[in-house]
Amino acid sequence: MHGLLEGKVAVITGAGSGVGRAASLLFAAHGANVLAADINADAANETAEMVQAAGGTAIGRGCDVGNADAVAQVIADAVAAFGRLDVIYNNAGITVQPRPGEGIRRFVDTGQEDFDKVYNVNVTGVVNGCQSAIRQFEAQKSGGVIVNTASVAGLIGYGGVVYGSSKGAVTQLTRTLAMELAAQGIRVNSVCPAGMPTNFLPGLAQSDAAKASMGAAHPLGRPIDPIDCANAALFLASDLSSNITGVNLPVDGGLSAGVMPRRPG
Ligand SMILES: NC(=O)c1ccc[n+]([C@@H]2O[C@H](COP(=O)([O-])OP(=O)(O)OC[C@H]3O[C@@H](n4cnc5c(N)ncnc54)[C@H](O)[C@@H]3O)[C@@H](O)[C@H]2O)c1
Repeated sequence: MHGLLEGKVAVITGAGSGVGRAASLLFAAHGANVLAADINADAANETAEMVQAAGGTAIGRGCDVGNADAVAQVIADAVAAFGRLDVIYNNAGITVQPRPGEGIRRFVDTGQEDFDKVYNVNVTGVVNGCQSAIRQFEAQKSGGVIVNTASVAGLIGYGGVVYGSSKGAVTQLTRTLAMELAAQGIRVNSVCPAGMPTNFLPGLAQSDAAKASMGAAHPLGRPIDPIDCANAALFLASDLSSNITGVNLPVDGGLSAGVMPRRPG
């Protein structure tokens, strides 16, 4: 099969776990040269080794997406290693980690440090990734593709105020940036997953009970798998979506589509 990203160069952030790892493996399986970046350098390198073991091409780098210089360095490293940049997948994201016995932190109990921490990764991290990539795309003068991982929390009220508002910023950045860059042939889209049993909420999301309740919240009845999200990102990164920009694509088992009818009885 001819890969959907044959010969392309992709930088993926948050690539040491969950969606970012799944996307690194998938993009590479479709022919991309991947730079897997993560704040956890060991995890990024492990992802790169997994890609190589599967016959693909990848390098790993430690990078805090909240640090603009570190992100610019990662783009420079990708260009040095592979010659150019075609795709950035701004996927790194975090939420407020609950205290013992706490669910989603109530807004009134939220501190400035919660906002600063989450916004620094979820919003500033995406801004940094977009700006660095755009500078490289403009130097190449041949378009480019930006994919962000937002969340269903950027589309509907979900996941708490800190997280939801940070992801709302990503969905709106996606639309407005898409308008600004369309004339240059640079596309900007997001994937918007619902609940996935990853390391995002360590322990909590991986218990069988959590998986069952995650699945029950989705009309299609199962949790989102990181590969579901990676598949959507692959579509948006590839030429299959060459006439699509400014879209926030739900990968949510139908959660954001509406309200399910009550079952009889
Ligand atoms: N898991 C869910 O239920 C869920 C739902 C909706 C959206 N999302 C979004 O999906 C994306 C991927 O999350 P995941 O579920 O794979 O989580 P995950 O925790 O398994 O993976 C996230 C990765 O990002 C890395 N990371 C964290 N801070 C970073 C930083 N400052 N710089 C670089 N890397 C950093 C982590 O080390 C980790 O490897 C995130 O944007 C998240 O907000 C997750």
